[in-house]
Amino acid sequence: MGADLDADIEEVLIDQQALQRRVAALGEQITHDYAGRDLLLIGILKGAIMFMVDLARAIRLPLAIDFMAISSYGASTRSSGVVRILKDLDESVDGKDVLVVEDIIDTGLTLKYILRTLAVRRPASVKVCGLLLKQKARPVNIEVDYVGFVIPDRFVVGYGLDYAERYRNLPYIGVLKRERYISMEDGEAEGEPGPR
Ligand code: IMP
Ligand code: MG
Repeated sequence: MGADLDADIEEVLIDQQALQRRVAALGEQITHDYAGRDLLLIGILKGAIMFMVDLARAIRLPLAIDFMAISSYGASTRSSGVVRILKDLDESVDGKDVLVVEDIIDTGLTLKYILRTLAVRRPASVKVCGLLLKQKARPVNIEVDYVGFVIPDRFVVGYGLDYAERYRNLPYIGVLKRERYISMEDGEAEGEPGPR
């Protein structure tokens, strides 16, 4: 791991300013749509942390926040669809207007699992706000109500998104250099389940 974080980035896809502007717009839209309702933001740890705190501050409504952590098995650049809850919600969602805040929707398998888990808990409504949506054919049919950016089908890091727990603190969304994850996959044990 080099000392310079930016050196591992091939290309900046979405810079800090563009992120800020888009999050502000999403916040405005959500403020409008949820006026007078009992809004509960559920952030999916850890990837959604940066997006969650910025989005929450852009919503001009009383709201509650909660977090859920999901673990996935398999190589860290791919989603296996095998997921389990590592940390459940602190409070009940019964009667609440739930908005799930996700970092990125790739296959959609993680989101599908989360939505299935929430549906049986009797929320008043459940919608999804994803910062990034990968432009590709998805094996599962999933509806994302609020989308920050549609991006090409490449592996991205930054603004909460990681590769092997690194790069979450980059203030922008960037494409990780391919040799970065190839060399890490050679040098480090992959396939361990871990919180994302
Ligand atoms: P899905 O289940 O395939 O939709 O994958 C969703 C999860 O996989 C996200 O919440 C991320 O944690 C992770 N993920 C998918 N694509 C990327 C990426 O390009 N960079 C970093 N993490 C990703
Ligand atoms: Mg991850």
